[in-house]
Amino acid sequence: MTAGESGPGWGRRRLRRVVYTADDIRRRVTELGREIAGAYGPEDCVLVLGMLKGSFIFVADLVREISIPLHVDFLVAASYGKRLASSGDVRLLYNPRTSVAGRNVLLVEDIIDSGNTLRRVIPPLLGRNPASLEICTLLHKRRVRLGKDARWVGFEAPEEFLVGYGLDFGEDFRHLPYIGSL
Ligand code: IMP
Ligand code: MG
Repeated sequence: MTAGESGPGWGRRRLRRVVYTADDIRRRVTELGREIAGAYGPEDCVLVLGMLKGSFIFVADLVREISIPLHVDFLVAASYGKRLASSGDVRLLYNPRTSVAGRNVLLVEDIIDSGNTLRRVIPPLLGRNPASLEICTLLHKRRVRLGKDARWVGFEAPEEFLVGYGLDFGEDFRHLPYIGSL
């Protein structure tokens, strides 16, 4: 599929352009996996916590590139609905029952935009006394300064609304193997 193409189930909006191809993403995810594996040791009890729903594809690809033992769980936070800007009202819908205390937690985000989601999610996680807490995000828009920012960033994202590879607009486009802009 190419930018501009539409069909059944693709929603009413068309993509303006492809921003990162499936190959671009594959290469970068491989690099990130190597860097992350190099930062932890095999004894580090890494717990990868993916932020649903947007990170589901990224997490699935990333963990297969991290060559040290780890566990995977997910958090569910929601803020946007069918809008292009964050509402600021971020709700934590699911908190993992996995024990976080003493674990090296790696929070995996699809994209950091306003930072509201991280601001909402990080304090309760820190309250559960992980040994460490780091953030890996596929995309970062660099719109805000965060007290706790991502240690690993896949791409410095343009100021556009991005979809695909897990990212949605009103639930459309998540399944695209590449990232495009609306
Ligand atoms: P923040 O809370 O504004 O930092 O945004 C975090 C969440 O908003 C992400 O996990 C996404 O689900 C969503 N989001 C932010 N920017 C975009 C975008 O460009 N495309 C799709 N979703 C986005
Ligand atoms: Mg979303």
